[in-house]
Amino acid sequence: METKSPTSLRGVHSRVFSEFARYRVVLPNGPFAAIFVPLRIFYSGGMILQRRIGDLSATAVGLGCMPLSNGRMVDHREQALQTIHAALDQGITLLDTANIYAPSWNAIGHNEALVAEALRTYTGHAPLTDVLVTTKGGITRSEGEQWGRDSSPQALRRACEDSLRALDVSCIDLYQHHRHDPAMTYIDQVRALQLLKDEGLVRRIGLSNVTEAELDLAIGELGSASDGGVISVQNELSPRYRADLDVLARCEREGIAFLPWSPLGGATHAKDVAPRFAAFADVADAVGATPQEVTLAWLLRMSSVMIPIPGATRPETITSIVRSMTLELTDEQFATLQATPPEHTSMYPEDQPRSPLR
Ligand SMILES: NC(=O)c1ccc[n+]([C@@H]2O[C@H](COP(=O)([O-])OP(=O)(O)OC[C@H]3O[C@@H](n4cnc5c(N)ncnc54)[C@H](OP(=O)(O)O)[C@@H]3O)[C@@H](O)[C@H]2O)c1
Repeated sequence: METKSPTSLRGVHSRVFSEFARYRVVLPNGPFAAIFVPLRIFYSGGMILQRRIGDLSATAVGLGCMPLSNGRMVDHREQALQTIHAALDQGITLLDTANIYAPSWNAIGHNEALVAEALRTYTGHAPLTDVLVTTKGGITRSEGEQWGRDSSPQALRRACEDSLRALDVSCIDLYQHHRHDPAMTYIDQVRALQLLKDEGLVRRIGLSNVTEAELDLAIGELGSASDGGVISVQNELSPRYRADLDVLARCEREGIAFLPWSPLGGATHAKDVAPRFAAFADVADAVGATPQEVTLAWLLRMSSVMIPIPGATRPETITSIVRSMTLELTDEQFATLQATPPEHTSMYPEDQPRSPLR
């Protein structure tokens, strides 16, 4: 995300990502940071796994910022900011948000503004030039908590302009279409996204909650990741929900980043990974990690295009998220986890009829 301040322009080096740059050194904070770099690398591993998103790179696990705007967190803004700051301190370079992540319908943009405030008030050592903020549009919330969809060119443009204001940026680095609008063909929605790019409001396009057929259509219209077309897909994937493996396989073939949402089963269920999926608890015991860390490591191992975006509301959670990137699972452990049957329950099931493709 390019903010308006000169320090926030992403460096050219991060745009051209080499296969050799799979890891990045995480610098410590404080006035003597430079002196302690070698020590920090030695003691903490100090290298953080990177993955590609189109022409960009980001940490292999990002931070899903949605829970920071839930009703419970509204009175804990300081904690919310500290959580994002902890992510930046520990080297995370991907922050996922959306216009609708807000405690109520009349506070749209709440989460985006929180992310912007966190970046503005950050005083740590992490280079903000490396941070990619991804947002989304296409879902509506109106008076009385009426949820809807609108992907008409006018509505997406309005939503995008509101996001630009909330994020305090002049252009959005990666704009994701949140969910399909059943009132429009999918191809028209994809074309509406392209208009945002043509108008210079967004630099890159991602899709969310897509079927393989929709992704295929979008690739045909916009191009694939290597053409600078669709560079990311954000669909649900977790121990409980694995219905979109065909979409993941297509992303893999295309080199499109796959950002699994609610990777731990959702904010209210993340603590239940072990009771619901015993194999994750067993592997966690074997590798000396938590079941949640094993879940994230399992997703990372599943595909090189995978970039999980777990949510977090506490700085301590960030430490655990970062640790998950260092976990190595054996082939046998991975196979055991793969063999666990999913529950096929979605955290946010689709409640609209699928729109026609054309
Ligand atoms: N595109 C879409 O339609 C869509 C839909 C839903 C979500 N999303 C995105 O996906 C992100 C993640 O989904 P989510 O937040 O709903 O669910 P989630 O990531 O499955 O679960 C979030 C919860 O997991 C806990 N957690 C995270 N890492 C942990 C760890 N290492 N150990 C223990 N607990 C851990 C957090 O605890 P604490 O709160 O205690 O820190 C948080 O409450 C969202 O923030 C949002 O950005 C997108």
